[in-house]
Amino acid sequence: MSAPDRDTLLAAAQAAATLAYAPYSRFHVGAALEFADGSVVTGSNVENASYGLTLCAETVAAARAMNDGRRGGLVAVAIVGGSANSKPGDVQAPVTPCGRCRQVLAELASLDHADPVVWCGGGEEVLELRLSALLPYAFGPTNLQG
Ligand code: THU
Repeated sequence: MSAPDRDTLLAAAQAAATLAYAPYSRFHVGAALEFADGSVVTGSNVENASYGLTLCAETVAAARAMNDGRRGGLVAVAIVGGSANSKPGDVQAPVTPCGRCRQVLAELASLDHADPVVWCGGGEEVLELRLSALLPYAFGPTNLQG
């Protein structure tokens, strides 16, 4: 088992972003989740004509992983995003996961008390954060124990 490689995982997220269905925002996001066994699950954002029903890339990736039977082992997350309207020279900020996606990722991570590293890219700068820093004091399964 080797340590997750930042640039490899960001490249997987970048590839996933090309599959985004984002005709409304034209903001294409890809997410790549790496697991302890080295497997990688990706997702991209899926928009809807009823805008509020949009699924973010990280949520799609987490749902795919859990639907494949994964219940923990999440070691790293990479997120890449950018606007299809951007022009050469535009500075793109790193894409940090939205609040809902932080909660969705935290559910998966909580299943084996993991605290994955999250790499946020999309421009020149890559932010590296732990999920616990992005979502401190997360509500999780233990809160529901009587
Ligand atoms: N989006 C994501 O996929 N992940 C995030 O963490 C932030 C936002 C998507 C949702 C929508 O399709 C587009 O980016 C613009 O908000």
